[in-house]
Amino acid sequence: MRKKYAAGNWKMNKTFNEGQILFSEVTNMVKDELVNPNVKVVMAVPAPYLSSFSKLINTDKVSIAAQNCHPKESGAYTGEVSVGMLKSVGVEYVIIGHSERREYFGETDEFIAAKVDALLAGGLTPIFCCGETLAQREAGIHFDFVKGQFTNALFHLDADALQKVVIAYEPIWAIGTGVTASSEQAQEMHKVLRDHLASKYGQEVADNISILYGGSVGAGNAKELFAMPDVDGGLVGGASLKSRDFTEIAKSFPA
Ligand code: 13P
Repeated sequence: MRKKYAAGNWKMNKTFNEGQILFSEVTNMVKDELVNPNVKVVMAVPAPYLSSFSKLINTDKVSIAAQNCHPKESGAYTGEVSVGMLKSVGVEYVIIGHSERREYFGETDEFIAAKVDALLAGGLTPIFCCGETLAQREAGIHFDFVKGQFTNALFHLDADALQKVVIAYEPIWAIGTGVTASSEQAQEMHKVLRDHLASKYGQEVADNISILYGGSVGAGNAKELFAMPDVDGGLVGGASLKSRDFTEIAKSFPA
């Protein structure tokens, strides 16, 4: 059975002290309360906190993630953080291709593909984000657009490598807006994406890949979303900043 994920993306929020409290609270609650052995809780915290917070993890149900990385091993890339650096402080997962990085920092599919390669070469798990704008959905080109993001950033991988990637479908119109995709809309896109993977890699490979939904996931709608057959969890922004809400989200998978 493919793995289920409750992944929190803190984005650029929380001071060190606030973050330390939040991270410890989630870790302790998850350790005590999360009983489904197939669920992994991942927290993507700001880069300066990674080294310190990774030491707070007291259960293998929790992993720490970075929100970005640079594809080069080292060198003159002021302000950037390499995969090797992240690995050396206990990071296991890295979010890449988030729509905020694509939009505000001009990241292209090609650059994101290079990050995928660097992460897999370093033994870390990419959480690859994709998703359409409202205008693209209204124009009816959303399926083709997101399939294109896959093709451009992932389809150079062989089947073994592809199966090490976690996907997060995050429709841009649902991020931070309080407007979540309905569970039917999420399921519909996830199925299209899984079929797209199957068309190149075969059904068995496609069935092994976790596809998370992101966009206004909260404690109130996670159960319905996670009940969908092709929705393997959530990438959670705002609600991951509240320890009780995020823990409840992690407990929202069908038994
Ligand atoms: P929200 O849950 O705040 O909508 O953010 C989603 C997101 O962008 C997670 O990466």
